[in-house]
Amino acid sequence: MPLIEWDEERHSTGIQTVDDQHMRLFELLNDLHAAMEEGRADEEVGTVLQDLDEYTEYHFTDEEGMMQDCGYADECNGCFNDHKEVHAEFASRVSQLRERHEDGEYITMDVLQFARDWLDSHIAGDEQDQSYGEYVQREFTDYTYE
Ligand SMILES: [Fe+2]
Ligand SMILES: [Fe+2]
Repeated sequence: MPLIEWDEERHSTGIQTVDDQHMRLFELLNDLHAAMEEGRADEEVGTVLQDLDEYTEYHFTDEEGMMQDCGYADECNGCFNDHKEVHAEFASRVSQLRERHEDGEYITMDVLQFARDWLDSHIAGDEQDQSYGEYVQREFTDYTYE
């Protein structure tokens, strides 16, 4: 069974680009989870952490850029700054996990649990990705991102 399953109602922001990137993050975690179940987590956790690091950086930059482009960041500057801070915290947690892994600690369970809970609540959270998605849907009924 996958660790985290996409639930359209819970996770969709209504913005395809954002949803696609979130799904990719779910996939990374599910791959690591599958590796753990097959006893291959030790070999894979380093690569997954690196991918998670790189892909979240890419996703956060993209998401923050969209928030600025569509006016959300101006409409609620506080929301935008808080959101950026939450992204930065996640990135620093991932770096810490990478360090622990490099020090030889077994961290697969911590990675899976932390990243799953974080992603789920960040995407579905009222004041996080969903609220930005709702803003875009409200203000730009035919808005599309390339
Ligand atoms: Fe976000
Ligand atoms: Fe996001």
